[in-house]
Amino acid sequence: MKRTVVIVGTLLLCVGAVAAQQDQVKQTQTMMKGNGKNAGALAAMVKGEKPYDQATVDAAMAQFEDTVKKFPTLFPDSIKGKKPEGDYYASPKVWEDRPGFQEHIASFSKVVADAKGKIKDLDTLKATLPVIGKQCGGCHETYRVKNS
Ligand code: HEC
Repeated sequence: MKRTVVIVGTLLLCVGAVAAQQDQVKQTQTMMKGNGKNAGALAAMVKGEKPYDQATVDAAMAQFEDTVKKFPTLFPDSIKGKKPEGDYYASPKVWEDRPGFQEHIASFSKVVADAKGKIKDLDTLKATLPVIGKQCGGCHETYRVKNS
């Protein structure tokens, strides 16, 4: 009887751990999708598809800042090799080359901090978005893989 309890308990723990990993994979993806959505909204203004809107800019910058803060916890060892459903997943390099990945986080963090509060109109947005975009692309080039 005691043994059954232990086994059931262990099983429950395992199920819990797997669920937590899947949650993390999803959470990471959701965060990155949010970045994509915000960057897309800024790009639409730069392209003239949407009028300049300060609230959209501020919301995007706040979300980038939030991403910077969460980045160090978005890719724990427990989700290495776990692929979310969707178009992209994190390359194993995220875990195999932590220092390189951290460098990209640090440089993204710096660019976001520098840009904070500086985007005031379409001209400043036009000047700043490519600088931010370069950081996104620079990291994705090595650390993001497209599902084929
Ligand atoms: C330090 C590295 C790094 C930086 C900087 C970075 N990303 Fe990502 N991004 C990743 C990784 C790794 C993935 C794959 C993980 C995933 O999709 O779950 C990813 C995935 C994505 C995805 C795909 C989400 C999906 O699965 O559908 C989008 C969109 C995205 N990033 C947008 C951005 C934008 C926009 C920026 C800049 C504002 C940015 N990222 C900055 C590492 C980074």
